[in-house]
Formats: sequence, C-alpha cells, structure tokens
Amino acid sequence: MWGHPLRVGGAELCDTQWKFCEGADQFLSGETGLGKSTLMDTLFNTKFEGEPATHTQPGVQLRSNTYDLQESNVGLKLTIVSTVGFGDQINKEDSYKPIVEFIDAQFEAYLQEELKIRRVLHTYHDSRIHACLYFIAPTGHSLKSLDLVTMKKLDSKVNIIPIIAKSDAISKSELTKFKIKITSELVSNGVQIYQFPTDDESVAEINGTMNAHLPFAVIGSTEELKIGNKMMKARQYPWGTVQVENEAHCDFVKLREMLIRVNMEDLREQTHSRHYELYRRCKLEEMGFKDTDPDSKPFSLQETYEAKRNEFLGELQKKEEEMRQMFVQRVKEKEAELKEAEKELHEKFDRLKKLHQDEKKKLEDKKKSLDDEVNAFKQRKTAAELLQSQGSQAGGSQTLKRDKEKKNLGFL
Ligand code: GTP
Ligand code: MG
Repeated sequence: MWGHPLRVGGAELCDTQWKFCEGADQFLSGETGLGKSTLMDTLFNTKFEGEPATHTQPGVQLRSNTYDLQESNVGLKLTIVSTVGFGDQINKEDSYKPIVEFIDAQFEAYLQEELKIRRVLHTYHDSRIHACLYFIAPTGHSLKSLDLVTMKKLDSKVNIIPIIAKSDAISKSELTKFKIKITSELVSNGVQIYQFPTDDESVAEINGTMNAHLPFAVIGSTEELKIGNKMMKARQYPWGTVQVENEAHCDFVKLREMLIRVNMEDLREQTHSRHYELYRRCKLEEMGFKDTDPDSKPFSLQETYEAKRNEFLGELQKKEEEMRQMFVQRVKEKEAELKEAEKELHEKFDRLKKLHQDEKKKLEDKKKSLDDEVNAFKQRKTAAELLQSQGSQAGGSQTLKRDKEKKNLGFL
C-alpha cells in the first residue's frame, strides 16, 4: 500500500495528478519474454498477471486487463494491453496488424460515442491507448526490421516510448552506442516517437534532459533485497547486484517519473488532440464529410447527408442494373444451352430413325426372299406328290420313268 502523498511504485503523486491517471491505458509491445509483465509489476509495485502466456498461438494476440488500483479513497483504473506471441512466428509480416486494429477499435468506439445525439463523454470509459511502451531487445546491434515496421505503423496512432529491455544484459559502453544507433535508425526511417513536451516552463528542463536519455534502458524485478539497511528491488547475480531504482544502474526511475508523474496528462492530451484527431478526420472524410464545398463555402451536415444519400442510392441503382444485366445474360446463356441440347436430340432421333428404316428394309427383303423360297419348295412338293400318286396307279413298269422325272424335278 502506498502512503500519502500517493505513491505509485515509488513515484509520488499529488491528488490532482492522480486524477489524470484515471482511465490510463497502456500498451506493451515487444517480443516475447522481454520482461513486459515484470516491468509493469515493478512500475506499479504490484502483481498484475496471473498465468504467463503459452505462446503456442499461430499469430499475435492481445491480452487486455483492467485493474482498479486503490489507495485510500482515490482510485486508478489502469488498463494494460500486452502483446502475446509477438515475434514468435516465422512469417512476421502481419504481426503489427492486430495491434493497429486494436488501437483503431478504441478510437472507433470513442468516435461512435461522440457522434451520438445524447453523448455522455464524462461517464464514458475511455479505452483509448495513451502510451505504448515498445520493448527493444538488448542486442547492442541494429533495430530488428520487425521493430521498425511495427513502430512505423503505430507512430501516428499512439505515443510510442521505446525502451531497451533487460538492460542488465548489455555493458555501459555498448549501451551508449546502442542508444545512439537506435535513435539514428528511428530518425532515418521516419519513425516518430513520443517526445516529452518542453513548452511548459515548469517541466521544460526536466523533459528536455529526459528526451536526451531516450530510449530508456530499463531493468525489471519484483524481488526485494536488503541493501545497506533498506529493502530494494534488485536482481542478484553471481558477480553482484543490479538495483532497479539506482539511476547509475538503469533508467527505470526516469521512465517511472516521466510516465506516471510528469507527463501522464500530456500523454492523454496527445492521444486526444493528435492521434484521435487524425483518426477522426480520416474516418469522417472517408464517410464523405467535408468542412467546405468546392466554392469554399461551409458544407452543412444536411448537404453532406444528402450527398452521401444520393451517392449511396446511385451506387445501389448501379448495382441493381448490374445484377439485372447479369440475370438477362445468364438467362440468354441458359436458353442457348437448351437450344443446343434440343438440336443434338433431334439429330440423334433422325439418325436412329434412319437406322431403324434401313434395318426394316433389310428384314423385309430377307422375308421376301424366304417367302419365294418357301413357295418354290411348295410347288416342287406338290409336283412330287402328284407324280407319286400317278406312279402307284401305272405300276412298277413305270418306276424307271418316274425316277427319271423325279430326278428332273430335283428330288433324287
Ligand atoms: P511474455 O508475456 O511471455 O511475452 O513475456 P514478458 O515480456 O511479459 O516477460 P516476463 O516479464 O514474463 O519475463 C520473462 C523473463 O525475463 C522472466 O524470467 C523474468 O524474470 C526475466 N526478466 C524480466 N525483466 C528482466 C530484466 O530486466 N533483466 C533480466 N535479466 N531478466 C528479466
Ligand atoms: Mg507477459
């Protein structure tokens, strides 16, 4: 528990500053296992997440958790959205998409509330993301292309605060060079990271100094060790101890001060006036809203609505006409197909008919020739029978003559 004045993970907050924290939403992006959860626990001096992510999903997922942090009678609603599985895939081309979609969805929800006739923005739970802590692996080399691409996609949508994670893994001289390298790569790739504002005199000096320290090199730990006679957050190694809140060891205190104490209001302000405004403008333009017509006269909402309605009706008519044409075309095609099938059927029928006629004629011819043969046979038979009866009357003397006649008739 924090004592008064209010302390969040060690940073002192007076009541007014605390108010700014209400509904503060943060985004944690960066590769798997870079210490995102540990850093949040260290920053807010609590244990947020339960189970660690499994990292078996095929794509990047987002895990959003809202916490009601309570101190005395003042509350802080803090939403932490963390990437799960970022950088785990072989093909990392679309890794940034779920993050962009999530941020846009929060803007869209706010825009929808704003466009309502009865809007209640003062009680609306603003889920827009106010800060993105982008965790960079302590390689000491260049930024990975995944990091550059993702930050480039996000820089017009959210305040990016790049941080070098697990900075105890890199030596002091390497860290200085790494910071310079990261900064120059961000500049040469046109990635706009969040700059602490220097226009307010009261914070201009500290913010100016802190901008020069970006990206912050941080170490996270929830383990407390006794150093001297004080309990401190630290990481212990065989060769020594790294103190999280020791500014000679890392930039954790700088990050905490800048993020929670000094610039929380500006982060919220930038989110609204810069990032949300850009989203709102693009979205309304996409919907056909304009401030002025081509003659630079103010464009009324009524006119916009009418123009959009006409455009919609025109498109609808066009679509209807296209569908009608398509229907007529399909009917014509079907008709032609049926005609073709009918023609083929007729041809087949004619062929079969002719075949049948030929067969019939052949059979008739054969029948005729068989009939002729039968008649001839009958005639011969009758003649033979006649001869036989005459023979029996004339006696045996005639037998020879009869045989001769039979032979002539073809019976012998
Ligand atoms: P995912 O949510 O699984 O992507 O991981 P994460 O980014 O939340 O990392 P997590 O906080 O779970 O830490 C992963 C491991 O790194 C744990 O073993 C931590 O103890 C360790 N770790 C966290 N912060 C630091 C740090 O600053 N330095 C070192 N050396 N290790 C750290
Ligand atoms: Mg985690």
